[in-house]
Amino acid sequence: MEEEKKYYLLTKKFWNIFAPFYDIVVTPISRVRDKVVTFTEAKIGSKILDVATGTGKQAFAFAKRGYDVTGVDLSEAMLRIADKKNKYENVKFEVADATNLPFEDNSFDVSCVSFALHEMPSTIREKALKEMVRATKLKGTIMIVDYALPKNKIGRFLIYRFVKLYEGEHYSKFIKSDFEALLRKSGIKIKGELLVLLGAGRILKGIRVANNR
Ligand SMILES: C[S@@+](CC[C@H](N)C(=O)[O-])C[C@H]1O[C@@H](n2cnc3c(N)ncnc32)[C@H](O)[C@@H]1O
Repeated sequence: MEEEKKYYLLTKKFWNIFAPFYDIVVTPISRVRDKVVTFTEAKIGSKILDVATGTGKQAFAFAKRGYDVTGVDLSEAMLRIADKKNKYENVKFEVADATNLPFEDNSFDVSCVSFALHEMPSTIREKALKEMVRATKLKGTIMIVDYALPKNKIGRFLIYRFVKLYEGEHYSKFIKSDFEALLRKSGIKIKGELLVLLGAGRILKGIRVANNR
């Protein structure tokens, strides 16, 4: 598909240039990382997969609490930074496409994806979620952290306009889409939601319920 080809090309190019600045730009969302770990409530010793891990910020937050973490990303440039900043023995990174994860079925207790799905064309987003489901154990936990819109009208208007200024073309479609329906279709049952960043973001906690590939 043309749109997918374009996406892969642009994503790699974009992060090649932008990787060195990413951690500075996302400083305002630093506090969300620990909230994600707490909200996950993973058992001690859980194996965690962080999809589209970028520079590994969310992966490190899980590793800090003692979990065994694998972070994957398409961008070698982002992973170079993750590797450089990695001071944990219980986290490793590898290059992989979220739509074709190099793991056996049912490999992880928890899969997480943070601030990445909104950047993807809908076909890639759908495939990535399907792969997360496949790689997660049945009844395992799937964490999704991404943009949301506040409940009140003015907040929604302002946040949407603001985020649109710096996000790419797929953000608008993502935020207007029926994301809950996509999760259900992917085999994820939502168990909880935590609003963050004054409602401009949310952490969704789901359970893998589908028993199919
Ligand atoms: C905005 S960054 C988010 C990074 C990190 N999850 C975080 O919370 O800071 C988006 C990341 O998604 C990665 N990405 C985009 N499409 C991907 C795909 N198909 N497979 C794996 N990683 C992908 C990009 O390379 C980039 O590192």
